[in-house]
Amino acid sequence: MKRVELLVEGKRISILKASDFPIFYIHGSGCDATLWIKQLEELGGFAIDLPNHGESDELEVESVEDYARIVAEVVDRTSGSGLIAGHSLGGAIAQMVYLKHRKVVKALILISTGARLRVLPKILEGLENNPSETARFISEMAFASREYVEDFSKLFADRAKILLEDLKICDRFDLLEDFKAGKIRFDVPTIAIVGEKDMLTPVKYSQFFSNFGARVAVIENAGHMVMLEKPKELNEIIRNFLSELRL
Ligand code: COA
Repeated sequence: MKRVELLVEGKRISILKASDFPIFYIHGSGCDATLWIKQLEELGGFAIDLPNHGESDELEVESVEDYARIVAEVVDRTSGSGLIAGHSLGGAIAQMVYLKHRKVVKALILISTGARLRVLPKILEGLENNPSETARFISEMAFASREYVEDFSKLFADRAKILLEDLKICDRFDLLEDFKAGKIRFDVPTIAIVGEKDMLTPVKYSQFFSNFGARVAVIENAGHMVMLEKPKELNEIIRNFLSELRL
């Protein structure tokens, strides 16, 4: 595993690279590329630190479209095209890369995400006014088991500012009506994967995608952070999906 950097729009974007296999993992709100270690180790590919996260430079980002532009350029310059695997906010970014930069997308892996990602007002207000307590509340909602709650309460509290910025971007992200109106369909192979006990992006959000050409896989006894809670199961689902694509 090594770190590589690309200069995108004049800013350093840091990428964890495990192999040349063109799968690109996009992390969610307040997280970073290291979230994907277990997928990188077993499946290979690239995990991107979004701007303002991990080891990437700061950049003014106001929307999912802004993040998608950066990701599309990274994919284009690294492999020409690839599989885009996004978690939560990263899944919104993956959808937007598909909508706005389709030539770089071979397939989509939408993990714990949705076509609309409204955020509880209590979370948005709480991160502003009471970050430690709210970070704990989010962490408790993010995991089905207690194992990671303590660590992520601290991590989210330390990153309350960027977490809030990301969640505001999630709250504005909304493709639901465009899907319903038939304006969007997945014309590349797409799988939506979700934890059975996900409280932040419930199973219903992933099932919604099945009306538009996606298949759906539900991981038992997992919450929102499936890549940490159930890495083997998640990797198995991704591996099976990849083998059917014959890439
Ligand atoms: N896919 C499919 N359906 C969706 C959807 C999605 N991505 N997002 C919302 N909907 C559905 C809702 O289930 C609801 O359906 P219903 O009327 O049959 O119950 C309808 O669309 C309206 O939902 P929404 O606009 O989100 O408003 P709401 O008032 O029902 O809920 C929240 C707002 C914030 C309470 C809710 O989105 C929620 O609980 N979110 C999860 C918690 C959170 O903060 N997650 C962070 C995500 S990053």
